[in-house]
Amino acid sequence: SAAEPLKVMISGAPASGKGTQCELIVKKFGLVHISTGDLLRAEVSAGTDIGNKAKEYMNAGRLVPDEIVTAMVTSRLSREDAKKKGWLLDGYPRSSAQAQSLESLKIRPDIYIVLDVPDEILIDRCIGRRLDPETGRIYHITNFPPDTEEIKARLIIRPDDTEEKVKSRLEIYKKNAEAILATYSDIMIKIDGNRPKEVIFNEIDTLLSQVQKDKVKSTESE
Ligand code: AP5
Repeated sequence: SAAEPLKVMISGAPASGKGTQCELIVKKFGLVHISTGDLLRAEVSAGTDIGNKAKEYMNAGRLVPDEIVTAMVTSRLSREDAKKKGWLLDGYPRSSAQAQSLESLKIRPDIYIVLDVPDEILIDRCIGRRLDPETGRIYHITNFPPDTEEIKARLIIRPDDTEEKVKSRLEIYKKNAEAILATYSDIMIKIDGNRPKEVIFNEIDTLLSQVQKDKVKSTESE
């Protein structure tokens, strides 16, 4: 039988580059990208019940209550495409309760990637970040400006990307990181996220290709 598809978690502080790397990973490995931040922002702009509940927390730079996010993620993970193509979970779990929810459902990744970036760089990245509402692509005013004036004109700033809110998001991240790491310490890989995005992706690519090979091998030896 064929090897099971890849299951990957990517974590790191706000603006460590998760979304940027996920775009490259999806292009190469065809995994289903599940970003709780993107899912929640879509609920907010569609004005759903979940969105209306989540909005005040997100705009304040605080975590949305676990039960809302967990229900959203587990329902997305159980869909056919995620089972068939594999998944890339971005921004979840973000608390030890969320990690325990996945453990109790026996949902575990093959690898847990942590992007490591110094605080002062994170703050600059958040403040310069711009989002294209039409394509969902992430830009940065100085690091990655858009190619055309047309895209530039429609870029938006996330309401939680002010310096004050970034600092509070960073605090919350640090407070939770250790407890989550304990759950995945055996499959955790820390990557230096303070390098050009292509260099970071090369390292991730090598890692994921190796994990994929190992999965095929273990299927063959069964
Ligand atoms: P979420 O959207 O997950 O925000 P986050 O974790 O703060 O992460 P970001 O999206 O800010 O950053 P990123 O790491 O993806 O970086 P990016 O690639 O954009 O969550 C938002 C909110 O939703 C939370 O605060 C919370 O309220 C709620 N939420 C989400 N999940 C939840 C959960 N599980 N439980 C409860 N609440 C939840 O890059 C950042 C910038 O840097 C960009 O401008 C980019 O162009 C630039 N950049 C990227 N890589 C590089 C590089 N290598 N060099 C230079 N610049 C770079």
